[in-house]
Amino acid sequence: MKLSLSRAIPIAALVLFSLLASCSAANVTYDHRSLIIDGQRKLFISASIHYPRSVPGMWPGLVQTAKEGGANTIESYVFWNGHEPSQGSYYFEDRYDLVKFVKIVQNAGMYMILRIGPFVAAEWSYGGVPVWLHYVPGTVFRTNNEPFKYHMKKFVTFIVNLMKKEKLFASQGGPIILSQVENEYGYNEQYYGDGAKPYVKWAAEMAISQNIGVPWVMCQQPDAPEYIIDTCNSFYCDQFVPNSPKKPKIWTENWPGWFKTFGGGDPHRPSEDVAFSVARFFQKGGSVHNYYMYHGGTNFGRTNGGPFITTSYDYEAPIDEYGLPRFPKWGHLKELHKSIMLCEHALLNSEPTTLSLGPKAEVDVYNSSGSCVAFLASIDDKEDKTVQWQNMSYHLPAWSVSILPDCKNVVFNTAKVSSPSSVVDMVPESLIPSASSSDKDPKALEWEIFTEKPGLWGKEDFSLNSFVDHINTTKYTTDYLWYTTSINVNENEDFLKGGSQPFLLVESKGHGLHAFVNQELQGSGYGNGTTVPFNFSAPISLKAGKNEIAILSLTVGIQNAGPYYEWVPAGLTNVKIKGLKEGILDISGYNWTYKIGLEGEQLGAPDGGKSVNWVSTTEPPKNQPLTWYKAIVDPPTCDEPVGLDMIHMGKGLAWLNGQPIGIYWPRLASFDIPCVKECEYRGTFKPDKCITGCGEPSQRWYHVPRSWFKPSGNVLVILEEIGGDPTKVTFSKRKMSTVCSSIAEDYPSIDLESWKPDMDDDSSQDKAPRAHLKCPDSTQISAVNFASFGNPVGSCGSYSLGDCHDPSSKSVVEKACLNKNKCTIGLTEENFRKNLCPGSTRKLAVEAVCR
Ligand SMILES: *[C@@H]1O[C@H](CO)[C@@H](O)[C@H](O)[C@H]1NC(C)=O
Ligand SMILES: *[C@@H]1O[C@H](CO)[C@@H](O)[C@H](O)[C@H]1NC(C)=O
Ligand SMILES: *[C@@H]1O[C@H](CO)[C@@H](O)[C@H](O)[C@H]1NC(C)=O
Ligand SMILES: *[C@@H]1O[C@H](CO)[C@@H](O)[C@H](O)[C@H]1NC(C)=O
Ligand SMILES: *[C@@H]1O[C@H](CO)[C@@H](O)[C@H](O)[C@H]1NC(C)=O
Ligand SMILES: *[C@@H]1O[C@H](CO)[C@@H](O)[C@H](O)[C@H]1NC(C)=O
Ligand SMILES: *[C@@H]1O[C@H](CO)[C@@H](O)[C@H](O)[C@H]1NC(C)=O
Repeated sequence: MKLSLSRAIPIAALVLFSLLASCSAANVTYDHRSLIIDGQRKLFISASIHYPRSVPGMWPGLVQTAKEGGANTIESYVFWNGHEPSQGSYYFEDRYDLVKFVKIVQNAGMYMILRIGPFVAAEWSYGGVPVWLHYVPGTVFRTNNEPFKYHMKKFVTFIVNLMKKEKLFASQGGPIILSQVENEYGYNEQYYGDGAKPYVKWAAEMAISQNIGVPWVMCQQPDAPEYIIDTCNSFYCDQFVPNSPKKPKIWTENWPGWFKTFGGGDPHRPSEDVAFSVARFFQKGGSVHNYYMYHGGTNFGRTNGGPFITTSYDYEAPIDEYGLPRFPKWGHLKELHKSIMLCEHALLNSEPTTLSLGPKAEVDVYNSSGSCVAFLASIDDKEDKTVQWQNMSYHLPAWSVSILPDCKNVVFNTAKVSSPSSVVDMVPESLIPSASSSDKDPKALEWEIFTEKPGLWGKEDFSLNSFVDHINTTKYTTDYLWYTTSINVNENEDFLKGGSQPFLLVESKGHGLHAFVNQELQGSGYGNGTTVPFNFSAPISLKAGKNEIAILSLTVGIQNAGPYYEWVPAGLTNVKIKGLKEGILDISGYNWTYKIGLEGEQLGAPDGGKSVNWVSTTEPPKNQPLTWYKAIVDPPTCDEPVGLDMIHMGKGLAWLNGQPIGIYWPRLASFDIPCVKECEYRGTFKPDKCITGCGEPSQRWYHVPRSWFKPSGNVLVILEEIGGDPTKVTFSKRKMSTVCSSIAEDYPSIDLESWKPDMDDDSSQDKAPRAHLKCPDSTQISAVNFASFGNPVGSCGSYSLGDCHDPSSKSVVEKACLNKNKCTIGLTEENFRKNLCPGSTRKLAVEAVCR
């Protein structure tokens, strides 16, 4: 409501108006076909956006971009350990302002699916359950266990009451139409023995007893009771059948990409296959579909699950980590959503007829009361086909679905991507010293340094002649635990006289370690991301007499799923020294002194650390382990999203103005993973099908939300564990520099915006497909790098000419596009040569620069 308008309206009318706007309670029920809102069946296209994986300043834009992408619903988990960081004290501020998030969804006119869980997995620290609960005596997670059930019910009730108080359930006039209890417990049930079934029943009854007035779901829960809808999570759910004929077919998680691990490559799921899976789902009677994730975002701070889940949770989702639509995925799915919505009425109000169209091809027809829609599908993963149906012939690419909202015209085919694509760059910008930081020489960046003492700093926490579990000791309040002891070396050892050096051998349950001898770093070891336990072995420098052995054990995101996941251990189990005269020396039973965390953490260095003994310098030390770096910087210029480039650093944590950017670790992706040059969209997808980036850092850039910056005087703090060069750290700005379009003659050419059933064939005069280009707002097409009508090859950023090419292509495109923010080029006879390479399907590929 605009302020100027409200001034003109009498108060009484205003009150009435807002009552109508906010209190029109909706009656949400369901039948075998779909959810029913006030008696109407509806289709739901839902987008997962996890509120703590972005910042409040990004929420309205993300929700709007999802809406523009054709979603009518937003889905999120609720993150218990963010909301109840210590027992009984609740937090709902900043990134955890759940009410604000749901209201943003409501104000956008969208529905909301709230997956309360409160176990969520989600590649999120400890699956969302607070670590303190593990230490409430007698607690076992996710089974028929009284302490767990008590705390789970208490939290679910807390969230439900909060939502009720703010009138956010649809039954109260709010946007929430569906809620979830538990999460993928079906996978784990077999491991929980007699505790499993009673727990499922209890969770379901506990949910129902909350009286929220909208239905509950349990995902991956084939034994969900009658009154709770069981739903599907997978890459494909067209074959999913709910456990009762009275329940609709709901897909709570379609994974449009995949998450990354430190040491793993970049997984990609092609847009063609995502669209195929979605179209197949609606073709086969699905009615609620959710992308997990639609915006993946960032695991800020230490919220990443693990071990080894990266700080980026980009997920190759339709909106990228930084909040920009990802092309062509976002655009291709947008067209898919429009096409499906054109079919809504017929899909929901008639029973389908399935007919074979030959081997591995079929059509489903929904035809009644004057409307007819059809989905033509090929599940052949190799050959394109031409199929005959209703006396018409249709070209069906392999592994694709064509959508015919009038049983005649194809408006969309999942394998024909006509959406623009783009190249996105991270453009570096050196750290700009903030004027307020130094008035001596405003050009040189001044650093403040604090170096940790390796090993025992301050008073010991305890000492023992054995090893303790890392997580049990830190309770995840920090990633770091020091294990220190000392050994005596006899002066007649051979290695002291030039013989080969002794080795330190460490066995650890995870996740990583840095080994120091006499305060010098000897080496680091890590699990490789697939298995947690690892062995570390490295030559070490010992001297005659007493030597201090200090091992810094690390966690890198704690376990977030799996049976009894809360018990998964970490930390040292055995330490030996090899190469001494006496043979292998097992020092596991020595007197080990323990210290939890780092001194800088205790002194508040992440927030700038007033009590830290910072040392100022314009030449900060390089390649020095356990060093805190602080600089006062200005924000990067302009307004593009920002990533911190950590390629020249080792491993550690970073903060801006006390806000946790997260764990950085430009660890290289292993060459042992199956990387591909090109991704084949045809055929069943799995996470390791289309991986790239072998030998490159799993994550180089770390998102720093724009809203964390002040106009000047920003405190950037970096904790480096191993050694790096802070002078090479830069902010990089995420820019869409190049846009492309590639479209073939046989692509659907119907304008989805104006399409109506029974539209007269001649009313759309120009049936030629069109290429669309659009630059980011406030930029223009400044050059056309490439344009070819014919048979060009390659993809955005690397097109090249084929043997068939219309030489006027470039001038045609330049005429239509130069100095414009967006343009379209029709594949018409006016624009391009008619008789070029007869007999082949020609296409136009264009690449343009935005400035
Ligand atoms: C809600 O709708 C269902 C069926 O659509 C109907 O049986 C029920 O009476 C309705 N409830 C209310 C409160 O209107
Ligand atoms: C749809 O139904 C109408 C009326 O019954 C019929 O004429 C038409 O052939 C049907 N179309 C298809 C594709 O089955
Ligand atoms: C298809 O064509 C045949 C022969 O031309 C005709 O008999 C039949 O009615 C047509 N069917 C439809 C659905 O148009
Ligand atoms: C990880 O290490 C385990 C055990 O050493 C090994 O079996 C596995 O192949 C490794 N995986 C990768 C991806 O390097
Ligand atoms: C580590 O070394 C021990 C002892 O040699 C061996 O039993 C164990 O399997 C090794 N673990 C891994 C993860 O390689
Ligand atoms: C952690 O502590 C719990 C509770 O004291 C204990 O039951 C468990 O065995 C410990 N885990 C490890 C790996 O030491
Ligand atoms: C173990 O070492 C610590 C720290 O040096 C010391 O305080 C403690 O007395 C030692 N314990 C034993 C049993 O030697």
